[in-house]
Amino acid sequence: MPNSLDGSFVKDGPWKAGLFQGKVAFVTGGAGTICRVQTEALVLLGCKAAIVGRNREKTLEAAREISKLSPDRESAVGDSVLAIHSVDVREIEQLEQAVARTVEAFGRIDFVIAGAAGNFIAPFSQLSANAFKSVVSIDLLGSFNTAKACLAQLQKHKGAILFVSATFHYYGVPFQSHVGAAKAGVDALSNALAVELGVSGVRSNCIAPGVIEGTEGVSRLAGNVSKEQIRSKIPLQRFGTTKDIAETTVYLFSDAARYVTGTVHIVDGGMWHLGTHF
Ligand code: HXC
Repeated sequence: MPNSLDGSFVKDGPWKAGLFQGKVAFVTGGAGTICRVQTEALVLLGCKAAIVGRNREKTLEAAREISKLSPDRESAVGDSVLAIHSVDVREIEQLEQAVARTVEAFGRIDFVIAGAAGNFIAPFSQLSANAFKSVVSIDLLGSFNTAKACLAQLQKHKGAILFVSATFHYYGVPFQSHVGAAKAGVDALSNALAVELGVSGVRSNCIAPGVIEGTEGVSRLAGNVSKEQIRSKIPLQRFGTTKDIAETTVYLFSDAARYVTGTVHIVDGGMWHLGTHF
């Protein structure tokens, strides 16, 4: 399947098998392309995971697919991957219930990926206040709610949170004022948590993907711009892959990053330095 990992991620990659044995991840937006592959990487390395999503079918399907990657070959959905659907990150009570179900099933939460996001192209002149509010509520308030609902578990297990950000707000991308504003807030939230929660051993970082091939975000944003035009604007001269994001995620949750907090890891082939967009 495109945009999916397999056993070679562990066998041929730099990571030690069983790296995340005994750990549990809580992932919002886990049925979306990027967060699903981030979760696949964690599960391939022995982590258990709760996939939290709004859409019932998509969430169940993602959990089924990820379960097949568990190093425990007999693993069924529920053994190593839990699907928790019908959760809207704008509603903190729904997230609190999802956290309780995860702890009931797997006993703990060590890693949190706050990845649920909403986006569409809209000129500011046609962006209603409600449209702006919807995106800020999913991307920023949803990230706050996720961190807040997981806080006790993160503190108990000296865990780590990873917010999924973007690079739009570094320079200003037209028709993305809503997302740019929300993601700037996500970076600020992560920085504040890194400082405030560092004393209890909790790390907080952001990952900012660039143009990642095969994602809904890129197909929506690219419009009629050709792949070649986009590629030529990326210093590393290729699109990013979901695997690129997964590798950075593994690093940030691993002990190798034990002294890394309050950072934004930009995984975009250097594109934002050009201050450009497609
Ligand atoms: C203008 C729009 C719009 C559009 C919705 N709205 N789509 N305005 N252009 N294309 C307006 C609606 O008219 C309404 O305003 C308001 O937004 C809320 O719309 P609802 O449909 O009621 O909201 P809701 O059901 O909560 O849906 C939220 C959503 C939706 C964000 C609008 O698109 C969604 O759920 N998306 C989730 C999936 C998604 O977006 N995935 C892409 C993520 S990619 P009015 O005024 O009419 O009431 C991503 C990556 C970014 O984020 C980085 C890429 C590189």
